[in-house]
Amino acid sequence: MRHPKDFYAPLAVGAPAPLREVPARPSRAIHFFDPSNPRMAAKVPAMVGTVDVLLGNLEDAVKADSKVAAREGLVEIARATDFGPTQLWTRVNSLDSPWLLDDLTTLVPAIGDRLDVVMVPKVEGAQDIHYVDRLLAQLEAKAGLQRPILVHAILETARGMTNVEEICAASPRMQGLSLGPADLAASRRMKTTRVGGGHPGYLVRTDPVDGDVHGERSPRSTAQQDLWHYTIARMVDACVAAGIQPYYGPFGDIADVVACEDQFRNAFLLGCVGAWSLHPVQIPIATRVFSPSAEDVAHARAVVEAMGDGTGAVMLDGRMEDDASLKQCRVLLGLAEELAA
Ligand code: GLV
Ligand code: MG
Repeated sequence: MRHPKDFYAPLAVGAPAPLREVPARPSRAIHFFDPSNPRMAAKVPAMVGTVDVLLGNLEDAVKADSKVAAREGLVEIARATDFGPTQLWTRVNSLDSPWLLDDLTTLVPAIGDRLDVVMVPKVEGAQDIHYVDRLLAQLEAKAGLQRPILVHAILETARGMTNVEEICAASPRMQGLSLGPADLAASRRMKTTRVGGGHPGYLVRTDPVDGDVHGERSPRSTAQQDLWHYTIARMVDACVAAGIQPYYGPFGDIADVVACEDQFRNAFLLGCVGAWSLHPVQIPIATRVFSPSAEDVAHARAVVEAMGDGTGAVMLDGRMEDDASLKQCRVLLGLAEELAA
C-alpha cells in the first residue's frame, strides 16, 4: 500500500510547508452544481469538456436535510461520469458543522481516486488545514489512493483574513484560495446584502467645478469602487508567496453579466487565475476573462522580441519597455502557454 509519505514530505504541525509549484491545470471557471438536485445533477455529464472545473457543492445553498442526498448524489455522479479534461472538485461543509467528518469519510473511500480538490469553507487558520490534511492522509492511505487530494481554502472570515499567510503555507496539499465575499462581508460586519460584486453606495465622486461647492449647478460624476480590492490584493500576495493559486469566488447577480465580467476582470488583472460560476451563463465569462487576450499576447511577444537579451530599455509604440515590463509580459505568455497546453 502506498503511504502518504510517498506523496509528499510529512508535515510537522506548525512547521512551514516547503514552497512548491502547484502543477497548474486550467481552472478559470469553477462551476458549482448541487448534487442533491436531480435536475441539476443530470446536466453534469454534458458539461464535461465545456468547463475547466465541475464542483459538487455540499455546503451553503444545500439545505440541512439534503446534506446526505448531496453527498450520495456526488458519489453517484462521480462514479458514473468520465470527467476527461475537466477537473472534479467538491466543496465540503465547514469544520464547525456536524457534516464535515461524514463528508470526507464518505467521499474519499468512494471517489477519492476521481476527486482532484477538496474546497474547505470558512478556514480560520493553519490548524483547520492541518486537521483536514491529516484526515485526508489517513483516508487516502486506508483506501490505497495513488495520488493526494489537494486542498483549496475559502477566505471568508475576518480571522481567516488575518491568518491568510499561514493558511496558504499550512500544507503541501494547498492548491489555492478563493475569496468568499458573502460570508466575509457578514464576518466583517460590512453593510452589504449581496453575493460579491460592488455596491451602488460605495463611490468616489469627482470634485465640484470651480465655485460650485455643492455641485448643484453641474452634476458631478461618480464611479463605484471595487469593494474587494484590498482583500483580493492581500490574498494574491499570500498565495504567490506560498506558490499556490488565488481565485475570485462567487458573483450572485446572475442576470447582471456585465458587472460579473467587470468583477472577474478586476480579479484577473490583480493576479487571480479563476472564479466560481453559479450558473452556466457565467462559465464562458470566466473562461474568457481569465485567459489572456490575443491582443495582450501579441503585445507581450513584441516586447520579448524587442528586448533581445532581456536587459536594458527599448521604445515600442511610444512606450518605454525594460527588464520589469518584460517580466510582466512573460507572466502573460506563460499563462497563455499553460492554457494552450
Ligand atoms: C462564498 O462561499 C461566499 O461566502 O461568498
Ligand atoms: Mg461562503
